[in-house]
Amino acid sequence: MISKKMTDALNLQINKELYSAYLYLAMSAHAQDIGLKGFANWFFIQVQEEMSHAQKIYNYVFEQNQKVILDEIKKPPAEFESPMDMFQKTLEHEQFVTKSINGLVALAREENDYATEIFLQWFVTEQIEEEGNDNEIIDKLKYIGDNGNGLLMLDKELGVRTFVAPAVTAE
Ligand code: FEO
Repeated sequence: MISKKMTDALNLQINKELYSAYLYLAMSAHAQDIGLKGFANWFFIQVQEEMSHAQKIYNYVFEQNQKVILDEIKKPPAEFESPMDMFQKTLEHEQFVTKSINGLVALAREENDYATEIFLQWFVTEQIEEEGNDNEIIDKLKYIGDNGNGLLMLDKELGVRTFVAPAVTAE
């Protein structure tokens, strides 16, 4: 049993995860459009990661015998200045998601909702990894600067990323 307030907060988090998927799909489309297929692949994999995050919370809400209510997903931007711009925006967005997850953990503690606090631990750890990945790519892009060959090498590297599906059950 989880509270109505927690259910609402988890439903809002589902919306944020779905928006994340939509934002990264827009970035993937932009990268594809400018011929950076490796970047497009990286963001496309990220879309699948975000969908699995949304599904994980979706399943948890139902496991707690509450109802998932979906809200409107806002429109993502269509244009990005550069690969660096895309990754800086990705990092900023992930920092926003991290704050949101931390807020859910704080609410779970306030309500003595140990089940949700334990459930959210997976997301706390996931956010460390997500921000870490973005920072690593931003560092590489700083070294590359205006070097076209460097950018193409990174594009190749990002092109081999594959999706490893996490368990989407609540555990
Ligand atoms: Fe679902 Fe990228 O956090």
